Amino acid sequence: MREFAGVQSRSAPRIYLPFILLLLMFTPRVDSSWWYIGALGARVICDNIPGLVNKQRQLCQRHPDLMQSIGEGAKEWIRECQHQFRHHRWNCSTLERDHTVFGRVMLRSSREAAFVYAISSAGVVYAITRECSQGELKICGCDTNRRGRTSDEEGDFDWGGCSDNINYGIKFAKAFVDARERMVKDARALMNLHNNRCGRMAVKRFMKTECKCHGVSGSCALRTCWLAMSDFRRTGDYLRKKYNTAVEVTMNQDGSGFMVADRDYKRTTKNDLVYTENSPDYCLMDRLAGSLGTAGRVCNKSSRGMDGCEVMCCGRGYDTTRVNRVSKCECKFKWCCAVECRDCEETVDVHTCKPHKKPDWLDLT
Ligand SMILES: *[C@@H]1O[C@H](CO)[C@@H](O)[C@H](O)[C@H]1NC(C)=O
Ligand SMILES: *[C@@H]1O[C@H](CO)[C@@H](O)[C@H](O)[C@H]1NC(C)=O
Repeated sequence: MREFAGVQSRSAPRIYLPFILLLLMFTPRVDSSWWYIGALGARVICDNIPGLVNKQRQLCQRHPDLMQSIGEGAKEWIRECQHQFRHHRWNCSTLERDHTVFGRVMLRSSREAAFVYAISSAGVVYAITRECSQGELKICGCDTNRRGRTSDEEGDFDWGGCSDNINYGIKFAKAFVDARERMVKDARALMNLHNNRCGRMAVKRFMKTECKCHGVSGSCALRTCWLAMSDFRRTGDYLRKKYNTAVEVTMNQDGSGFMVADRDYKRTTKNDLVYTENSPDYCLMDRLAGSLGTAGRVCNKSSRGMDGCEVMCCGRGYDTTRVNRVSKCECKFKWCCAVECRDCEETVDVHTCKPHKKPDWLDLT
């Protein structure tokens, strides 16, 4: 038995080595990206961040404090991406200690890549703008252009307080995030630039006015208002809708822009996410494509949507396990001011996708 194993392992490299070399030669290098800043935490040392292009490195050196917020922001938008895709076969999972963050999936100019570029760029706008408002940065502060008296549907008000300086956030995000794509001129770069812009604009779309009333006992005779960003969830939800309606494009002849693949499509794609390659189905584990497959993923037996077992498991079927869960129940409000609950145990069925069954001719046992 031992000897047999030994023979196998000695002959294996000879057979596979040329194959592996070929594979290495013909598979494109996976680029690392500024996305990795999020994994570095407080240790932002510009020279050591893999994946920054020169321009980004310069910005990093000049604004180490902004890099800190971009890093914090990266954790946030990655979490938002995972929330938006929690019911999908591709669920925005990241690879531990991997400079590419999302792995080889992002090598394809797919819808998923479109979404990730958009939300990452939105995340930078959000993080920088918020940091500016907190007043800790030398380079930016509140939006001082909003001064004086103006009015809305509820009457007159004075600009005051701290308006979020979204324009600064957008400006910086554009300089930093777009830097890599500005160095090349191909379909991929054009696509990324377009989707980056969509992301930046998405944050701006959800700016809202917040006001405070002054005057005798809340009479609101005087109002002070400022512009504030909405919760990042709004941006996430919006971009997720844009993902659903993303438009397939091809580069035009002179390489200066896109044409929509579908000739009947008449609208402008200005506010749409665009992609140039179809997505894999993400059903099976495929290292080359960076797909993790859906084996072991939890699915919902009664759902007909993406999270339904039929779709999630790609027709392979699912396993069911009974698990006991403890949850809060019979909660009562107790005067004053607490909520008391009991711990209830319930038994639920959890369904998980079966792994891919190897075809019979591969099954050697
Ligand atoms: C995402 O998918 C991967 C692979 O299918 C799985 O290991 C991981 O647990 C999933 N993450 C979430 C949050 O469901
Ligand atoms: C499963 O899907 C059904 C139908 O869409 C939904 O009502 C239910 O809340 C889902 N269950 C879970 C645990 O998400």
